Amino acid sequence: MPRLLMVPGPTPLSQAVKEAQSRPAVSHRSAEYKVICRRVFSALQWAFQTKNPVLVYTSNATGAVEAAMRNTCNPGDAVLSLNNGFFSERWGRMCQQLGYDTTVLTVPEGQAHTAEQVKAELAKKQYHAVVITHSETATGVLCDLQAILQVVQEAGALSIVDSVTSVGISPLPMDEWGADVVIGASQKGFMSPPGLTFVGVGPRAWKAFERAQYPGVAFNFEICREFQTRDMPPFTPATHTMFAVDVSLQAMQAEGLSAIHTRHRRNKLKVREQLSAMGCELLVPDVANTCDAVTVAYPPQGWTSITLREALLEEFGIEAANGAGGLMDHTFRIGHLGTQRDEEVNQTLAALHQLLNR
Ligand SMILES: Cc1ncc(COP(=O)(O)O)c(C=O)c1O
Repeated sequence: MPRLLMVPGPTPLSQAVKEAQSRPAVSHRSAEYKVICRRVFSALQWAFQTKNPVLVYTSNATGAVEAAMRNTCNPGDAVLSLNNGFFSERWGRMCQQLGYDTTVLTVPEGQAHTAEQVKAELAKKQYHAVVITHSETATGVLCDLQAILQVVQEAGALSIVDSVTSVGISPLPMDEWGADVVIGASQKGFMSPPGLTFVGVGPRAWKAFERAQYPGVAFNFEICREFQTRDMPPFTPATHTMFAVDVSLQAMQAEGLSAIHTRHRRNKLKVREQLSAMGCELLVPDVANTCDAVTVAYPPQGWTSITLREALLEEFGIEAANGAGGLMDHTFRIGHLGTQRDEEVNQTLAALHQLLNR
């Protein structure tokens, strides 16, 4: 039975991406590879809606968030970390490990921070940076990033935005909204295998970099930027993930950003509506606060998250995700990002209908 991966990243791979993955090995210093890099670096600026460099690292996204912190913050700096679920909670712990004077502002799972809450916290002391998770993939919550960025800027703090399941999926015009660091990953909206992560770095973040004491070498912003101006990665990259991202970005450019956002929103609304109709309670009842990449729901009566996911996989070959963090055993998650389009979403919903109507 063919498998359909409906977790919120990694996403299934298109035929074009699979072909890109099986190209012969290449030197990452060759002229041929430079052409690919140039195209990818420039297309990423398009996707991030920025004139600033988007640095490409061979890493998971967690590595990129750590890189962003090390390149813009120093031990002892006051850093505010917004926590509303499994992924955003990680950043607060990371800040503590890196020796920052860390404050974690927590709202319950399923809720989004408001700009007013952030503003009130920022009024208490001068913060150097605020770590914001735009789309919390564990709960399917999307915060009002534009409004939060506004209060962060007014407070004179730097913004580090985990947009792993929003950039290339939901509107996030980096320059227009004034985000300082924006982080994405190849395996999410960019429809490629894991391996590359993208870090848009704005002017205020470059200023902060100048005072960074421990930016390191492997993830050093300036080293990476300098190489990228010469159409190269600084160190050996995940060469074939770069091929895949190149192919995906070309497909994304052909589709257009606003069409991409509309498609994700359409599929999100369909999943929410049909899951509700099937008796699955949605974790986030208010659609206004929901991300476009994933929907989190409780199984209907008579099912658990485990039995539902197992039946979906065994009988239909469809893999949904379990809950994450505190929601692990209670919820299940359906991804609808990147290559998980209308056809895949319809197939998944039809399978769920069959299972739950039995
Ligand atoms: C919002 C968010 N942040 C961070 C991560 C971590 O990404 P990675 O596993 O690539 O480190 C994920 C992964 O799903 C995510 O959804």
